[in-house]
Amino acid sequence: MATRYDYREHLQLARKIYNNTRTYVVKTHQNVRNVKPIDISKAKSLVHNLAENILINPNAMMWLTHLKARHEYTLTHSINVCILALIFAKHLDLHRTELELLGLGALLHDIAKLRIPPEILDKPGKFTDEEFAVMKTHPIEGYNILKEDAAIPNESLEIVLHHHERINGKGYPDELTNDQISKHIKLTSIVDVYDAVTSDRCYHDGISPYKALQNIYSWTSGHFDKQYVEGFMSCMGIYPVGTLVNLSDGKTAVVIATTKKTKLRPMVLFIKDSNGEFYKQRKIYNLLSQKWDNSTDRLEVKGVIEPKVSEISVSKILEQESLTPQQSTTQQIDKIKSLIE
Ligand SMILES: [Fe+2]
Repeated sequence: MATRYDYREHLQLARKIYNNTRTYVVKTHQNVRNVKPIDISKAKSLVHNLAENILINPNAMMWLTHLKARHEYTLTHSINVCILALIFAKHLDLHRTELELLGLGALLHDIAKLRIPPEILDKPGKFTDEEFAVMKTHPIEGYNILKEDAAIPNESLEIVLHHHERINGKGYPDELTNDQISKHIKLTSIVDVYDAVTSDRCYHDGISPYKALQNIYSWTSGHFDKQYVEGFMSCMGIYPVGTLVNLSDGKTAVVIATTKKTKLRPMVLFIKDSNGEFYKQRKIYNLLSQKWDNSTDRLEVKGVIEPKVSEISVSKILEQESLTPQQSTTQQIDKIKSLIE
């Protein structure tokens, strides 16, 4: 398990790659709004870098999906769905080529939302039937925007077109049923909803990753393929990265890493001490390290804190934790590779 030094180094490297992707998505969204071409080869190279980093350490990039703000939902959602789809696909042992096709489609899946009038896209209340009809055009419009570009593979285009299909045939635009929906679509549709419900949006507050998994499981019947929902739960763990938790000694912490062995005992970052005071120097703690400790006061996760009832901003903490050093990405990749070889 990573030391504090490793944790910071992985997170800072992941942040640089994340920032490069973010810069690209901002530019791409402007281009789509202004009906200008999109640079698909740049998107491919960014997805390649994301996949490379996720194969080394998925936890750091998963932690970065919590770097979000209500007014930037469309921007961060594009990046997060790409990251989460890559992490889930890695968990399912999909081939590296498949990962990158999937990641490209996921990064661009909502591209046509940039052409939806802001008064509909950012409406704080419920859509009228007419407004919902406009929202539902974005998969086909996204497909139409991208299909003329020979650089975009069909597998990626399919994700743009079909990410709102549901196994009961009540999705859109083609009302496909279970057997007609590919594994790429099945896994993207789950991570799409996961990021949507864990994000603050103009019309609702985000829920905890823990609660989001519970909700997605309860929506399985009709919406999602059970096998993939269970796979996603296994991928994310009981307390997914980014979950705020109360510990048995009264401390407050955020989950920063999980592995197959540590579903109930993740690695956490202490945020507040037992008296409710914020730590000036945050400490990481591996709950697994005391698994075989028989003492009655060993540290456990006692409960999950829902973001909307907490004064703690996970995004702000993450912003501080992932501040990048003045070291080149290439140097850091080489260093991390040398550590794992
Ligand atoms: Fe969508």
